[in-house]
Amino acid sequence: MAQFGFHTTSDEAATALRDAITGKTILVTGVSPNSLGSDTARAIVAQKPAKLLLASRSAHKLEEVIASLDIPQGTTVQPIELDLSSLEATRKAAAEIRDSVSVLDAVICTAGVMATPSYEKSKDGIELQFAVNHLGHFLLINLLIEKLLASEHATVVMYTSEAQSRANLDFLDDLSYNEGKAYEKWTAYSNSKACNVLFAVGLAKRFGEAGLRSFSVDPGVIVSTGLTRSVPMEDFKTLGWVDDNGNLNSAIKAKSLAEGASTAIIAAFDHRLTNKDGYYLADGVLTKEGVLPGALDPAVADKLWKVSEDLTKQAA
Ligand SMILES: NC(=O)c1ccc[n+]([C@@H]2O[C@H](COP(=O)([O-])OP(=O)(O)OC[C@H]3O[C@@H](n4cnc5c(N)ncnc54)[C@H](OP(=O)(O)O)[C@@H]3O)[C@@H](O)[C@H]2O)c1
Repeated sequence: MAQFGFHTTSDEAATALRDAITGKTILVTGVSPNSLGSDTARAIVAQKPAKLLLASRSAHKLEEVIASLDIPQGTTVQPIELDLSSLEATRKAAAEIRDSVSVLDAVICTAGVMATPSYEKSKDGIELQFAVNHLGHFLLINLLIEKLLASEHATVVMYTSEAQSRANLDFLDDLSYNEGKAYEKWTAYSNSKACNVLFAVGLAKRFGEAGLRSFSVDPGVIVSTGLTRSVPMEDFKTLGWVDDNGNLNSAIKAKSLAEGASTAIIAAFDHRLTNKDGYYLADGVLTKEGVLPGALDPAVADKLWKVSEDLTKQAA
């Protein structure tokens, strides 16, 4: 069986793990042109899943991605409209998915926003980065859990980021950042990405014995996606990520889109990986290196679970 690393591409990973993809039912969120989600879909569909559900908040973006796919005979690709900034819309999407499948073998949650410039609230009045990057996915997965547990090898993969290492988890006591007065966009992004790791820990704790695996993945730095859309170039210069001409700092090792999408595919379909060995992957392998210790703490994971359950129940 293949070993994976920094330069493994999504196609190499999916080809090596073909047996775990062919004939399976898989959901990917965050599917827009040039996103990690769309490259994930492209690589997975080539290995003939029975059904690939692709979720995005914009129907026209989904149509564009689906039109670009080379869909093999025997594979069905189904678009799902999903706005994670609305708990009601997330419930609607989950109901549509439940009606469409008898089983879900893997869910890869790539959808996310980064560093939204000013304090913004979701449709449910919850800080936007936490709402989209964590809470919407928390609700979606919980509403799909029976379909996941119907699979022999169910796996949930959450996209996190190395940014999780700069989280301040005290924010779980004040999700509104003092009604926005204490909001700092990069810290809020880091916090939401730490929640992606904590959610993987919480899912494994609750459903691991029933056969569910759950991981979080850092895809690396991929500059060609839409993630930086709300970040001004001046910010990247201040952070030292680019020089005055906008060229990437040579100390930053960027990945291609296909290299970036590979780690989640490995997490989802390499059944040699188990939660006994960890919850976080980077460069294709399980690791604890670079992970904020609090993001792997089961007690903090429980705290996040309770907060998330309360918020989603309130909005039921
Ligand atoms: N690119 C990187 O270097 C990098 C590094 C570390 C981690 N990540 C993580 O990788 C994941 C994928 O990011 P990407 O780089 O592929 O960025 P992207 O191209 O912006 O993709 C993000 C996806 O999330 C969707 N999305 C945003 N808000 C949503 C909402 N309210 N409801 C449903 N979907 C929503 C976007 O839809 P629209 O197109 O309609 O906005 C898009 O499809 C993110 O979770 C990000 O945190 C990326």
